[in-house]
Amino acid sequence: MAELDVVIEHVDKTFPGDTRAVIDFNAEIEHGEFVSMLGPSGCGKTTLLRMIGGLEEVTRGKIFISGQDVTDLPPSHRDTSMMFQSFALFPHRTVFQNVEFSLKMRGMDKDMRAGKVWAMLETVGLDELASRRPSDLSGGQQQRVALARALISEPTVLLLDEPLGALDYNLRQTMMVELKKIQQETGITFIMVTHSQQEAMSMADKVIVMSNAMVQQIGSSREIHENPRNRFVADFIGNNNMFKGTIKSRSGSMVFVEAGEQLYYIRVPEHIRQVPVGQEAHFSVRADLMHTGDNPDMANKVVGSYVATEFLGTLETDVFELEPGQFVHVEQHRKLSDSSYKIGERETLCFAADSGMLLEETRRPEDLER
Ligand SMILES: Nc1ncnc2c1ncn2[C@@H]1O[C@H](COP(=O)(O)OP(=O)(O)O)[C@@H](O)[C@H]1O
Ligand SMILES: [Mg+2]
Repeated sequence: MAELDVVIEHVDKTFPGDTRAVIDFNAEIEHGEFVSMLGPSGCGKTTLLRMIGGLEEVTRGKIFISGQDVTDLPPSHRDTSMMFQSFALFPHRTVFQNVEFSLKMRGMDKDMRAGKVWAMLETVGLDELASRRPSDLSGGQQQRVALARALISEPTVLLLDEPLGALDYNLRQTMMVELKKIQQETGITFIMVTHSQQEAMSMADKVIVMSNAMVQQIGSSREIHENPRNRFVADFIGNNNMFKGTIKSRSGSMVFVEAGEQLYYIRVPEHIRQVPVGQEAHFSVRADLMHTGDNPDMANKVVGSYVATEFLGTLETDVFELEPGQFVHVEQHRKLSDSSYKIGERETLCFAADSGMLLEETRRPEDLER
């Protein structure tokens, strides 16, 4: 079994006034993993990160780092380092001095400090800016100083709270690649909080999806993309089309879901054991698994009216309305020569039975009390 750097067991955080910020959080983080905690604002990500770093006490539960119970230890006794969203650099110190600071505090001698700082500045690509002050740096460069400063103490775990949040779009794309590269080079375990699906899914080995102060799903980017477990995850992970209906009948691992005039035939994922006939059901279909035009090989067909096309780089997504307010996104791989739709034009949309993903309900605090 891989070495576990962080184990979080049944951790709760309740703030005065009965704000439940984190509820029954469980996770295991392996050595050298890049883990991302993904969820909307207010779902408890920062609070959890601060509890791992010892900046916030836990209300209940335990946290282990490298096998040691650190639940009641102060930050200085934990092998973690935190990188804040507002970089919190010392304005009157140079880049070199900012990075050097924690080594100096520890009493490391000058030559040894210099060696380590120069090596770190090289890792983050700042060696030529060592004598500048933070105010003479771009946002991306400041961010690198903050990263170097957090990494210089060689923590077992680096905690990053929305590290790219303050950067504009282009810089964020570049820094995503660089952060990942630095993480791989140093081999340090990264736990990164973000509300950006793109950041989490493109950088992390493991994604922890949160909402309602609870874990909704833990898995690789691919697992979460291909097998969203519940309604929240399917809805939050961008390119899923959501459908709602009633379970009509079940045969083996397949169900019929009735929605108005429409009957859908879809797969029941292995983790869903009970699918009572007559019960309300939700399922999702990824936009890249929806097709336009009549395809006799696909079990499911619906008709929609063309609404719009969304462009993102070379990817085009056509949007159709099935009934008022229910939109379906279809990713297209369109050649220049292909024609496009007129607004209101009717089109048949198809998807395979295997592409429909029956979903559990979103996890809520009330469910635990049952
Ligand atoms: N020090 C605090 N005192 C009281 N409530 C807090 C405190 N810190 C955070 N909260 C509340 O806890 C919840 C989770 O906050 P937070 O962890 O910051 O979420 P996120 O980082 O996911 O946006 C929110 O409802 C927030 O208002
Ligand atoms: Mg936060």
